[in-house]
Amino acid sequence: MNVRRATITAVGHYVPERVLTNADLEKMVDTNDEWIRSRTGIRERRILEQGATSDMCARAIENLLDQRGMEASEIDLIIVATVTPDMMFPATACVVQDKIGASRAWGFDVSAACSGYLFALSAGTRFIESGRHSKVIVVGGDKMSSIVDYTDRNTCVLFGDAAAAVLLEPTEEEGYGILDERLYCDGSGGAYLHMKGGGSLHPPTHETIDKRMHYIYQDGKSVFKAAVVGMADVAAEIMERNHLTGQDIAWLVPHQANLRIIDATANRMGIDSGKVMINIDRYGNTTAATIPLCLSEWHASGKLQRGQKIVLAAFGAGYTWGATLIKWSLANPSAGA
Ligand code: UT7
Repeated sequence: MNVRRATITAVGHYVPERVLTNADLEKMVDTNDEWIRSRTGIRERRILEQGATSDMCARAIENLLDQRGMEASEIDLIIVATVTPDMMFPATACVVQDKIGASRAWGFDVSAACSGYLFALSAGTRFIESGRHSKVIVVGGDKMSSIVDYTDRNTCVLFGDAAAAVLLEPTEEEGYGILDERLYCDGSGGAYLHMKGGGSLHPPTHETIDKRMHYIYQDGKSVFKAAVVGMADVAAEIMERNHLTGQDIAWLVPHQANLRIIDATANRMGIDSGKVMINIDRYGNTTAATIPLCLSEWHASGKLQRGQKIVLAAFGAGYTWGATLIKWSLANPSAGA
């Protein structure tokens, strides 16, 4: 009997219209286009002017449903990966469920920062594999502009807003779907990347506001060192476990935090730069949205093709990190019906 696996059967994304360029940032803080491009690879990012994370997630899912020709009422479960929920509670998944009219679905949020999408994908995969559900939406969305301090040049140049979603369904097709994953966390890394204020440790007060505790804090150098090792190690580990070389992998789909971290991961995997999905130049770091946004864009352009083996890899606050191996089963749009 064939194993029941989860596979991605539809993708969709939403990026806000407003573009914030490096030139715009030069007018806001002491920075310059050359520094941002050479240290990060970012040229511009998108900013959501009206609305919240749930609005972007809802639009990404609607884009997915349109492409799949499916009604929201068919969805069983919605898992939202985010660190910028609309509110502390209810879960953004509930807000999204209502906004898209997913009348039969339940849902919950996953908080794992830049690895959030991989952690949520893991949860969704288990619900499919167990036979409990057959239509699971995993959406990564973050309105990073809501927690970025636009007077702090160390962080404000890095982040942008976006959401992207995938639909998981069961497959019994031999060798296809979500094949393997390795996920990790190390809470001792929390000191280097966090938002201190607003939770039960430091509930909002005038003092927490004055101390700018409701913004992202990042010790960039420490995170960079950990990310370069963590993302490359886990990507190499998933390849070794599955007896794969760089030649077997069609695409590396990396979290988009820094082009230099992405390059280090690709080198370690032994794959050339032409096989790496990169859109950090246009969107910056959109946290939980980066990886599904790549999948959605590369699918739409026809470059991501059925039968290809791909490795998703992420590293982020927590620390959290991980990698997922997929044999892509979704036919590309130009393949014809
Ligand atoms: O997605 C979640 C995980 N996050 C990451 O993976 C991010 C990891 N870290 C990074 O990507 C990099 O550390 C950054 C891009 C954040 C920073 O790059 P860096 O090469 O590590 O620079 P740095 O923080 O060591 O700063 C070097 C210099 C400093 O000046 P001094 O002290 O050498 O005079 C900074 O003050 O660059 C300065 N600097 C800037 N200069 C112009 C920092 N930010 C800026 C800026 N514009 N925006």
